[in-house]
Amino acid sequence: MFPVHRPRRLRQNPQLRDMVREHRLTRSALVQPLFVVPGRGVRREIPSLAGQYHLSVDTLVEDARAIAGAGIPAVLLFGIPEHKDEEGSGAWDAQGIVQQATRALKRALPQLQVIADLCLCEYTSHGHCGIVVRHGDSAEVDNDATLDLLARAAASQAEAGADVIAPSDMMDGRVAAIRRALDAAGYHALPILSYAAKFASAFYGPFRDAAGSAPSFGDRAGYQMDPANAREALREMELDFEEGADMLMVKPALPYLDILRAARDRFDIPLAAYQVSGEYAQLIAAARAGWLDLDRAMLETLTSIRRAGADVVITYFARPAAKLLP
Ligand code: PBG
Repeated sequence: MFPVHRPRRLRQNPQLRDMVREHRLTRSALVQPLFVVPGRGVRREIPSLAGQYHLSVDTLVEDARAIAGAGIPAVLLFGIPEHKDEEGSGAWDAQGIVQQATRALKRALPQLQVIADLCLCEYTSHGHCGIVVRHGDSAEVDNDATLDLLARAAASQAEAGADVIAPSDMMDGRVAAIRRALDAAGYHALPILSYAAKFASAFYGPFRDAAGSAPSFGDRAGYQMDPANAREALREMELDFEEGADMLMVKPALPYLDILRAARDRFDIPLAAYQVSGEYAQLIAAARAGWLDLDRAMLETLTSIRRAGADVVITYFARPAAKLLP
């Protein structure tokens, strides 16, 4: 008891503080999301995501070179196709935008890990993450019909050379379907990073702007999770684990640190957390208004995500954070 115990003794100087620091963010944990678009020489800043760009395959490779050079081990690829259709066929096109980008990246930068986001919403004309079946006035996303398309898209991303497949659609049974398709095509060694606990979040707003993937009707509450549900999140993760996911993701990150911590205590496989577009945009906006110090706020949020239990942190701050980290 005081005065015997004085926690401030170990806070007296930076060296002592560094020595007793419990959690460290390192560059090796970071993943940078990238948006690839058709064309050549395209480098357009995304208005809702200052500092993030729509890149064509050639400029994407340039940026990826800088990302790899900064010590960031992986990128997460999102594609914005030329044409969208009802089924999202751009997702499994051998000449699709993500497939082209993956081939170019693996050719130019073989060490940089390419994580392919796997979903239909960027490719469907209606913006939903699966096949839409209409009954009169109502419509629903058909789970099992969607699984076949996801499996095809995964095989196509594998064929293009992706290092990790990351399904973000939230259909039931998709990890098993994708695993089966990958194994059947001979990709036994290709890992699956499952967006296992993905919540129907308002924080995806800026991304949907960037990807043009906002649903044209309804919302995603029929497949993404209710933000109020923690037990169900663990059940979702358990199912994906049993279906063969190699890594499990919680998304968004900061509003769901409790889920991340519970998952850390329960699963022994690596966990990822995705600091999503709205989490990024709110810090940028506050910093622009002069209300907080962006570098400090950025590192504080990223460190808290690690503290809660994430091994891998997917963040639009990967580049600026890497500059400040060991
Ligand atoms: C869906 C997908 C979304 C994000 C990643 N994959 C958006 C959604 O569910 O609408 C959001 C990422 C972000 O907000 O940064 N394929």
